[in-house]
Amino acid sequence: MTDLSLMPAPAATAAPAAVAPLTTAPAAPAVVTAAELYAKLLADAPLLIVDVRNPAEFARMRIEGREALDVLNIPYYAFIEDEDDAAAPIPTDREVVVVCAKEGSSEYVAELLAARGMAVSYLAGGFPAWGNHVDVRDVAAGAWGKVIQIARPARGDLSFVVVSDGAAAVIDPLRHTAVYHDTIAAEGASLAVVLDTHVHADHISGGPALAAATGAPYHVHAYDAIHPIDMLPATIPYTSLDDGQTFPIGAVTVTAHWFPGHTLGQFNFRLDAPDGTSALFTGDGIFLRSFGRPDLGGKGEAWTPLLYESLTERLPAIVHPHTLILPAHFSALDEAGADGVFSAPYAAVAATNDALRHRDLAEFTAYVLGHLPVFPPEYVQIKRVNIGLLEAGEQLADELELGKNICALSA
Ligand SMILES: [Fe+2]
Repeated sequence: MTDLSLMPAPAATAAPAAVAPLTTAPAAPAVVTAAELYAKLLADAPLLIVDVRNPAEFARMRIEGREALDVLNIPYYAFIEDEDDAAAPIPTDREVVVVCAKEGSSEYVAELLAARGMAVSYLAGGFPAWGNHVDVRDVAAGAWGKVIQIARPARGDLSFVVVSDGAAAVIDPLRHTAVYHDTIAAEGASLAVVLDTHVHADHISGGPALAAATGAPYHVHAYDAIHPIDMLPATIPYTSLDDGQTFPIGAVTVTAHWFPGHTLGQFNFRLDAPDGTSALFTGDGIFLRSFGRPDLGGKGEAWTPLLYESLTERLPAIVHPHTLILPAHFSALDEAGADGVFSAPYAAVAATNDALRHRDLAEFTAYVLGHLPVFPPEYVQIKRVNIGLLEAGEQLADELELGKNICALSA
């Protein structure tokens, strides 16, 4: 170390040049992944999402959370036109996450907000990363094996893997199948059977692809293998389901129960484990707070009485009060427990679900036909894809699946 006190004083020089004032670089915004964002949403962190996509994109799909989440749509070009004006509605006392269509414009806006001293991050990969985020967690487990929930939170889509003694079943698989292969491999199991509760209208099934890749049989009911609008039969390989048919998966049994209404060929699958664990994969038969609309085949009035019979007679006959209801969709994130699992015992669902509070068929029919949400035209196309009448590459599939599922009755 040099002792400066022993050094000679520097010789006098000409007048020093002006020294630039010291500045502190603004904190760079943090980057948040879709998985990290979903964990914050599940934990109901007091977040503000600043969505900088254009209003039309925002209207089609947005990030939704629980109570504490606020969302503002301020298009990124507003920040270019007048930064002060654009930033004015953003409170400075809460954590802000900026999201955009790709990533670049949210990074740009997040940098502007960070320079204003805000605690801000932006979503890695933009909206497509959120739209395609897949969440995997255990629903139930025992010595017999486990049930794993595989969710696509942006769309409110839920699917399941049952694993027992080295065998696996997949129920209502979503379009991108890698997560099922990975999950089953991680459990040291092999796929025994692929089950779709029905031919879905809101999303493209991964069932036929999983079956083709593994040799496992793909089951859906023959009624759903005829397009309800086109009246054309499926061209994909499938095996029909029988009411009461059982599928042994290791130590558990999965039983198929016909549950018409949402579609003619809708089935529920009940899992029974040796320790008394009971779960019902309901597809779009019944959700935790609502139930599947009967009009997506274009036959709403004809299928509503079938749905009423399924909900009021078939359902109570196939469940215990403790049977876990595991639906294929959710409408709001607060349907999930703190553990991120979308399930409830039948007794709790029966006490709170709109589907089960109507006294008679006439009242039920009036309620159903009075609460049908918009019918997305893509849903006719998606059913064509799901039975092989139309081929969809990745780009068309993305377009068809844009937006949240609208399979439930509206509130
Ligand atoms: Fe459906």
